[in-house]
Amino acid sequence: MDEMVHIFDHPLIQHKLAILRDENTGVKEFREIVSEIATLMCYEATRDLPTREVEIKTPVATGTFKTLAGKKLAIVPILRAGLGMVDGILTLIPSAKVGHIGLYRDPQTLEPVEYYCKMPSDIAERDVIVLDPMLATGGSASAAIQFIKNYEVKHIKLMNIIAAPEGVERVRKDHPDVAIYCAALDEKLNDHGYIVPGLGDAGDRIFGTK
Ligand code: PRP
Ligand code: URA
Repeated sequence: MDEMVHIFDHPLIQHKLAILRDENTGVKEFREIVSEIATLMCYEATRDLPTREVEIKTPVATGTFKTLAGKKLAIVPILRAGLGMVDGILTLIPSAKVGHIGLYRDPQTLEPVEYYCKMPSDIAERDVIVLDPMLATGGSASAAIQFIKNYEVKHIKLMNIIAAPEGVERVRKDHPDVAIYCAALDEKLNDHGYIVPGLGDAGDRIFGTK
């Protein structure tokens, strides 16, 4: 993998991910852990945010300190499963605006089908993090990224909890400018396009719809 693909092998993230993978983990715990992992990943994925020096007077002395600079952020969850990561990101970046893209994967063709889109009006002026727990064939992520690029967004990151090699390859090929952040790179896809070993259907497990 190249320098645009970041896999977080932090012990806390790996421990929580192991619980997510367990088929016996119930909906409440699954939902909470997706959110917690999103927060931990956000901490790492925002490491390159630009800062600027500002002068601040503390009760003791005046000094020069760093604050965030650069463009404001927007996050765009891919519905449904990406919704599970939103609160975890907003814990760290409470002022981020939130766009939504509704895509589902046709179970026969595995092609993404769009059914909803609502972006912040100033999306072109923001840096964007696309959220989806699963990067399988990469069709959904690639379509979502193209959709956001059509709004003239210049800088996009993709955050997934589990990625398959096929999905990473697809996004790297279609969008070489987009950095990918994930907690695990699994082995492969099965014949139904599910990530192996994966965690099953993320949307169903977050929303209890199985
Ligand atoms: C899942 C997942 C991704 C997509 C990944 O969504 O959340 O969006 O599949 O697959 P791909 O990389 O092969 O496109 P799904 O279509 O099951 O919809 P849901 O989130 O509504 O459950
Ligand atoms: N979508 C999921 O939710 N899980 C997979 O393994 C693949 C696609």
